[in-house]
Amino acid sequence: MLHLPKMRPCILATGGCGYIGSHVVVELVAAGYQVVILDNFENSTHKTAARIKRLCKRHVTIVEGDVCDRALVEDTLLQYNVNAVIHLAGKKAVGESMADPILYFHDNLLGAIALLEAMRNCDVGRIVFSSSATVYGASEMQPLAETASTCVLNPYGRTKLMIEEMIDDVTASAQDFKAVSLRYFNPVGAHPSGQIGENPTDVPNNLFPYVSQTAAGIRDKVRVFGGDYETPDGTGVRDYIHVVDLAKGHVAALDYLFSDHAARHERINLGTGTGYSVLEVIEAFSKASGTRVAYEIVARRPGDVAVSLADATFAKTLLGWEATHNLTRMCKDHWAFQCGGKPDEKDSSFTRQLHFSENVLSGS
Ligand code: UFG
Repeated sequence: MLHLPKMRPCILATGGCGYIGSHVVVELVAAGYQVVILDNFENSTHKTAARIKRLCKRHVTIVEGDVCDRALVEDTLLQYNVNAVIHLAGKKAVGESMADPILYFHDNLLGAIALLEAMRNCDVGRIVFSSSATVYGASEMQPLAETASTCVLNPYGRTKLMIEEMIDDVTASAQDFKAVSLRYFNPVGAHPSGQIGENPTDVPNNLFPYVSQTAAGIRDKVRVFGGDYETPDGTGVRDYIHVVDLAKGHVAALDYLFSDHAARHERINLGTGTGYSVLEVIEAFSKASGTRVAYEIVARRPGDVAVSLADATFAKTLLGWEATHNLTRMCKDHWAFQCGGKPDEKDSSFTRQLHFSENVLSGS
């Protein structure tokens, strides 16, 4: 049985204008939730905010501010009668966290503390936390079930694990405080409208945006980090998950938190259970974009593991959720966003590239 408030429940999405947050907000509104976004626009734009509003076709409140500002969080929780929080705000680049760990401790840990304190002070007792498969470290046991041991390899991962543990303590201290930590594998793709997606302003660290920018002619070629792993083609294997599937996983987690049988704090993997190598991704993206994506195999990237795969059984049994989009769809939607996002920037080389792609696709 669902314990939903009489009004449509109101959800605060911290970081709701970011890559994952924007998709989560669209799915929450589609599922009937009211949404208030709290975002400081450090790694998101007002253009995305406008696009979210257009896609939702319903009112979405946006509060501009920082999750570390407890007074602001409390005001927001009270003013909008918030019933639950999805906490996505935070820093997320592994390399940056190694160069500046204090920045990560400051933003991620202090943000979580301020939010949890504000929730306690305002009697808001449900939270979905955006965690990461990075908490499993370099585990040899694949696929990774939630019971696998955890291991921290960098400050970013440490903040994710520490926040999960903080939530353990907070939920243990108050009977009516319930939580789900979602451990994301490799989120990729974009909304099928092509309106929202991932748009890194610096050189991308992650494979999908790098491949996509190479297909668009912004980068020359993809550097494939390592061709000598113990995998079928020697390149790294990951569990890529379409961001819309991931977003729906948040809605399922929230429904679960509003149910009778919600446990104190569950950790749940969000992945597909299927792995693809770097070369398979490049091949699939080349097909989806109609562009031959050039690549070169170079040395391994320090800190990378050969394989990272989710055991996605728990999400299915507990939440009734499973991913439905395949790799082709991930590539197509990622490419559609890449194509839809660029013309605003009046990039003539991109326009040329687009025409080239259209010609390849139409066979002319
Ligand atoms: N890769 C390349 N070339 C690139 C970028 C990546 O060959 O330019 C390879 C990597 O070596 C790896 C695969 O592509 O084999 C995926 O790499 P990503 O950087 O896209 O993703 P990771 O698996 O390294 O990292 C992701 C998230 C992190 C999270 C980590 C562990 O981006 O936030 O999963 O869960 F910490």
